[in-house]
Amino acid sequence: MKHVDIKKMLSDADMVGTDVVVCGWVRTFRDSAQVAFLELSDGSSFQKLQVVIDKNALTVDGEATKLGASVAVKGTVVKAYRGEGNELNAKEVLLLGSCPADYPIQKKRTTLDFLRTIPHLRLRTNTFQAVFRVRSVAAQAIHRYFHENGYYYINAPLITASDCEGAGEMFRVTTLPWNADFKSAEEYFKNDFFGVKAGLSVSGQLEGEVAATALGKIYTFGPSFRAENSNTKRHLAEFWHVEPEVAFAELPDVIEIAEDMLKYLVNAVLTECPEEMKFFDSFMEKGLLEKLSHVANAEFAVCTYTEAISILEKENARFEFPVHWGSDLQSEHEKFLTEQVFKRPVFVTNYPKEIKSFYMKQNADGKTVAATDLLVPGIGEIIGGSEREADLTKLQAAMRARGMDESAYKQYLDLRRFGTVPHGGFGLGFERFVMYCTGIENIRDVTLFPRSVKNIM
Ligand code: 4AD
Ligand code: MG
Repeated sequence: MKHVDIKKMLSDADMVGTDVVVCGWVRTFRDSAQVAFLELSDGSSFQKLQVVIDKNALTVDGEATKLGASVAVKGTVVKAYRGEGNELNAKEVLLLGSCPADYPIQKKRTTLDFLRTIPHLRLRTNTFQAVFRVRSVAAQAIHRYFHENGYYYINAPLITASDCEGAGEMFRVTTLPWNADFKSAEEYFKNDFFGVKAGLSVSGQLEGEVAATALGKIYTFGPSFRAENSNTKRHLAEFWHVEPEVAFAELPDVIEIAEDMLKYLVNAVLTECPEEMKFFDSFMEKGLLEKLSHVANAEFAVCTYTEAISILEKENARFEFPVHWGSDLQSEHEKFLTEQVFKRPVFVTNYPKEIKSFYMKQNADGKTVAATDLLVPGIGEIIGGSEREADLTKLQAAMRARGMDESAYKQYLDLRRFGTVPHGGFGLGFERFVMYCTGIENIRDVTLFPRSVKNIM
């Protein structure tokens, strides 16, 4: 159907005086004696189009004025009677699809909790359209940032035989039901599709390292899967993961790249989605715009894990899980550090090796690894990264200490055998970034069809 986007029609001064066709869904209908007003959205912009119907000249099918109905309108573009931009004087209103009164998206019933039960329709609301426009702009900005900075875009496999994070959170991939005739697990896996135990990847990092130790600077941007049995507002079983990996980079370089990238992304969202961001500032998180422009300009804080623990230990009374040196930081601790202590994004560095992954570079103190998590207000951990262990012997020792099967990581170890280099990278949880930018508090509300424990609508 030949038509113009509402976004273009609203703002293009050259269109004034011309006849166009626009298509969209009815948002509101206001009727009076002489004129009626139909407000349409086609998803292209935050602002809706006002269609003006001169009732003396045009009779409109009642079905075409109902909330949610889809219509095509032919008319003349005129300068808006009130406010900026253009509106449309209707010549013909064509009903494309009627929308009966049991349409679930009614003005009064639009709490996020309710909308989560109708994921296929919630995108028809202002909030979700704004979230998904921001999400799209952020995704484009990620590719632009890395492309402009000389990184190559790599597609890591989603099905893998090696567990990157080693936290036992892999979904199995199999075509073979277990059957008591198999004498052992080994025999069972041998008969399965890949001939070994396979699963959905929790991270593209291990393959990213393969690419970075040849191409220099790479990034992946794709789904990661975690069978985390936690029903929190910031965990999904399937999330999108941005993972740059850089050869010849040490921990301070990793931190510098993460900060630079995050600022670039925040700026892109602020510049490209002004109306959406104004909406989120008013209705989701008061002060959001101020917070984000501060993030785009201020320097992030850096503190070691050991410093963080000594700050937190003094506050142990307020925590559900009191901390001591060696404990993993929970969401409550992360939020306290970034929201109350530093009041801005903070990189926590050099965690105890026992609570971090096998691949992280072991520090000279024998106790910590060159890891960093970036914590931000409202979310907690948004980025996790590290310098990687480049020394073959030390890496093998770390794997042995964790009871890992070295033979499954031969290729990974080869990277340390043949021309090993210092290198590092990080992972940004894309949904967490979208939450951070929009002020949306539940990760399920920035994901088209969220997958989590007992939830695959
Ligand atoms: O900290 P994580 O587990 O680190 C890694 O996977 C590394 N391999 C990354 C790297 O160095 N290349 O995950 C990285 C980020 C987290 O900081 C978080 O933002 C996000 O991924 N994330 C999740 N997001 C949503 N749901 C989940 N279940 C997530 N698990 C991690
Ligand atoms: Mg992490």
